[in-house]
Amino acid sequence: MTNRLKARTAIVFGAGTSAVQVPQGCVSNGFATAVTFAAHGARVVAVDRDEAALAGTHQAIVEAGGECTAVLADVTDGSQVAVAIDRAVSTYGRLDIVHNNVGATMLGGPVELPTQDWNRAFDINVTSVFRTCKYAIPHLLERGGAIINVSSLASIRWIGYPYPAYAASKAAVNQLTQSLALQYADRGIRVNAILPGLIHTPLIYQQLAGQHGDAEAMRAERDASSPTGRMGSAWDVANAALFLASDEAAYINGVALPVDGGLHAKAG
Ligand SMILES: NC(=O)c1ccc[n+]([C@@H]2O[C@H](COP(=O)([O-])OP(=O)(O)OC[C@H]3O[C@@H](n4cnc5c(N)ncnc54)[C@H](O)[C@@H]3O)[C@@H](O)[C@H]2O)c1
Repeated sequence: MTNRLKARTAIVFGAGTSAVQVPQGCVSNGFATAVTFAAHGARVVAVDRDEAALAGTHQAIVEAGGECTAVLADVTDGSQVAVAIDRAVSTYGRLDIVHNNVGATMLGGPVELPTQDWNRAFDINVTSVFRTCKYAIPHLLERGGAIINVSSLASIRWIGYPYPAYAASKAAVNQLTQSLALQYADRGIRVNAILPGLIHTPLIYQQLAGQHGDAEAMRAERDASSPTGRMGSAWDVANAALFLASDEAAYINGVALPVDGGLHAKAG
């Protein structure tokens, strides 16, 4: 434990981690971030729509001696988001950090993808951020705070998957991040985005494996595509989130930070 986030309340949307058909040690970005925030002194409100995935996060934090309240909620439902934020404030008396981790890929271009899935991608990936901010910002304004939006390297680069709905909705997350960062810069709220590259999380087994034939082929291809020769882990993303949430990033606002082993700098 350290005190980098001591006395802060952090709400993490998409904090669960699925253990279904996933190799041991493979955890979601939101799980790793919630656990890391708690290990550094934050009181964590972990939010997820998957009860079992959420329970795993709660258990991991409490077993490590941290403070955690679990709230079952879906970020595509504004009333559930409002309840989650209310719960954070009523339980801990304040809100300081909002971490927007929920995201979903939708494979397929305009010809293959139904329009309703295009709309769903925007709802899950970017309107969710608008929604959490709608209810969280009034509380953050009380004493300042940090919002961290998990975007994707796919928002600025082609990374090998035909998922324009995902890429475009994550690009919107970047611009929403900049826009809010500037709107609230003089009122003590910092808003930054993280752009993970190829990360080893449950999502890739559940949403992308079919694209490669099987899970092992996917894993080998993603490792080989990474400049480091291996995918990043959720803990790499969590460490970036910890920095952006902490006072050490007090003068960092409106950035889109790749966490990708250098993949953004690679041509071809
Ligand atoms: N894994 C990667 O390589 C990678 C790369 C770039 C960006 N990202 C981004 O990182 C974030 C997390 O990805 P991950 O790989 O850890 O995903 P994941 O699927 O492993 O975990 C995401 C969590 O969010 C929850 N969730 C999904 N939809 C929800 C909803 N509507 N409401 C509430 N909770 C919901 C899931 O139950 C799950 O616990 C996403 O925004 C994703 O786009 C991941």
